Amino acid sequence: MIDLGLDGARAIVIGAGFVPTRAGHGRGSALQLARAGATVACVDKNAERAEQIAREITDEGGKAFAIVADVLESDQARRAVDEAASRMGGLDVCVDIVGQAMWSKAAEFSDDDWNAQLLVNLTQVFYVFKAAVPHLAANEQGGSLMALTSVDGIGSSRFHAAYGAAKAGVMSLVKTFADEYGKDGVRVNSVAPGNVGGGNWDLPEIPFGEDVVNALAPPRGRDIADAVLFLASRLSAKITGQTLVVDGGALALSPWGMKEEHIGRNVAFSNATQD
Ligand SMILES: NC(=O)c1ccc[n+]([C@@H]2O[C@H](COP(=O)([O-])OP(=O)(O)OC[C@H]3O[C@@H](n4cnc5c(N)ncnc54)[C@H](O)[C@@H]3O)[C@@H](O)[C@H]2O)c1
Repeated sequence: MIDLGLDGARAIVIGAGFVPTRAGHGRGSALQLARAGATVACVDKNAERAEQIAREITDEGGKAFAIVADVLESDQARRAVDEAASRMGGLDVCVDIVGQAMWSKAAEFSDDDWNAQLLVNLTQVFYVFKAAVPHLAANEQGGSLMALTSVDGIGSSRFHAAYGAAKAGVMSLVKTFADEYGKDGVRVNSVAPGNVGGGNWDLPEIPFGEDVVNALAPPRGRDIADAVLFLASRLSAKITGQTLVVDGGALALSPWGMKEEHIGRNVAFSNATQD
């Protein structure tokens, strides 16, 4: 048996509720952490959804409870994290999955929409991180702090510029928090999903989102939850300041459009230039 080091761990997942037709990254993360033995504080701005995921975990024998908070407000983010730590007697893992894209051509974003996108995709991560760090740093063995970013923060974020800029900001924030709090044993990482779209691995009645981007292997909600589990676990004990891309290889695709029939032409070209 491989020990993930999460049995008895105290975890909080922000945005743990499940909205049918969406990917359910919070639900998946909360379920996987609970299945690894963690108690999970399930935070959501929607009370019904917070209760629903906590119930789903306890129904399958795990430990969980709901907290209602909207982390777009700094004081609510702090209250949620403090309440979770106080009810569990501390905090070992904090996962923030909140984020959502707004669509428009780049130059047509209103200033208000731009600011709203930065709040939901970047600023609230800062609120959560600064609330969680003191609890994680208080542990002798430290803890794992995480946010969800996106491949859109690495490549172009066509038609959702503010989202991409914010997600790139999360990757920077992760490095800085990892750098500043590494000495306290706090590991800070992010998971960057590719185009998961919607749908869920265990709810076949909800179809997966159409994946028009990824020719290799479209990632699904379960793949993102497993990446979160890995970064929460002792298997990633020496990994910090990183963004784990889970895109089935989409970003690894060559941009040049090479086809097999080009091989012969290129061999002839390179042989000629090396003579
Ligand atoms: N699905 C994809 O293809 C994809 C790709 C890349 C990145 N992502 C990232 O995944 C995350 C979203 O995952 P999802 O679609 O499964 O989640 P979601 O949008 O369905 O939200 C999950 C839960 O979070 C709650 N929530 C939203 N705002 C909140 C707030 N301010 N405070 C507390 N709770 C809040 C919602 O009520 C909901 O129950 C985002 O960070 C997104 O950028 C998704």
